[in-house]
Amino acid sequence: MTSYRITLLSGDGIGPEITAVARQLLDAVSDRHGFSLSYNEQPIGGAAIDACGEPLPARTLAACQAADAVLLAAIGSPQYDSLPREQRPETGLLGLRSGMGLFANLRPVKILPALVDASSLKREVIEGVDLMVVRELTGGVYFGTPKGRIEANGQVRAFNTMAYFDYEIDRIAKVGFDIALARGGRLCSVDKANVLDVSQLWRDRVVAMGQRYPGVELSHMYVDNAAMQLVRAPRQFDVLLTSNLFGDILSDEAAMLTGSIGMLPSASLGSEGPGLFEPIHGSAPDIAGLDKANPMAMVLSAAMLLRVGLKQEAAALALESAVDTVLDAGYRTGDLMAPGCVQLGCQAMGEHLLAALAA
Ligand code: IPM
Ligand code: MG
Repeated sequence: MTSYRITLLSGDGIGPEITAVARQLLDAVSDRHGFSLSYNEQPIGGAAIDACGEPLPARTLAACQAADAVLLAAIGSPQYDSLPREQRPETGLLGLRSGMGLFANLRPVKILPALVDASSLKREVIEGVDLMVVRELTGGVYFGTPKGRIEANGQVRAFNTMAYFDYEIDRIAKVGFDIALARGGRLCSVDKANVLDVSQLWRDRVVAMGQRYPGVELSHMYVDNAAMQLVRAPRQFDVLLTSNLFGDILSDEAAMLTGSIGMLPSASLGSEGPGLFEPIHGSAPDIAGLDKANPMAMVLSAAMLLRVGLKQEAAALALESAVDTVLDAGYRTGDLMAPGCVQLGCQAMGEHLLAALAA
């Protein structure tokens, strides 16, 4: 029987609760589809700070690099906000992305018919939205140098550097074009080329890459306009190609089109080696341990892991249709609750998903 090694990073806040649900579903779906999964659980973020004194212990990174795929829940908690930056949970996540070479972050945003009314936007605006944010993940202002903080002459100045090498833009642009080709054939590259030199290089390289993709309709949009268009007319987008910071911001905005950030999975991929799969929501420390979390983005991330990481398409579809079934039956977690629906906690939602999978 084919067997895959999964490194499981449950992290902080609601992480352990939603990881438990995802693991039960992965076990059930692998059983039914004739392969087996073994798990290597490792600490990251605040959990790793507590256990080992650092947010990304070397053994966690090594276990991720040695896996067939990595499933991460979420990191971060306000209790670590006053630590020096290199000891914060977020630094562990950035170190993992860069240590695994995961330069391409794919964030699909699809409106599920059962949740159209959960959105804060009007039904006629969001119905039929199906887009993909392709975000550069290991460069830009998140990683640029110089960076720091200088105190002199009674003043304090802090700075970061937004920088890209041509090859970093080329490789993420290629991912964007390839995905557009496999989807609706339209790629919208987001930049701020009217102001930023780094964005002008971004645009030049994307235009050059576009020459190789006559089958893809390429457009460009300034990031401020893209933020506006996402809430004005989101159906115009097929694939959005963004730098690291712009994609961070726009993907949260795009997530809210669906009604809850608790529904959206993501995949982070490099040019070789295992991928990392994680919900795009955070660790929600305010509801941690209360059995209120929505495990569906985590389950859908497990589905992406099966599809993209392990090439187990049928198993991925089975998880996705379990989510559809449970939503169609009117079950909701608190974040999605609507009149006439039945509210469930995290564990009970997991049980309903298992039952839908078995049906
Ligand atoms: C995300 C998150 C992270 C990011 C944080 C937790 C470092 O917001 O994955 O979008 O900014 O990339
Ligand atoms: Mg973010």
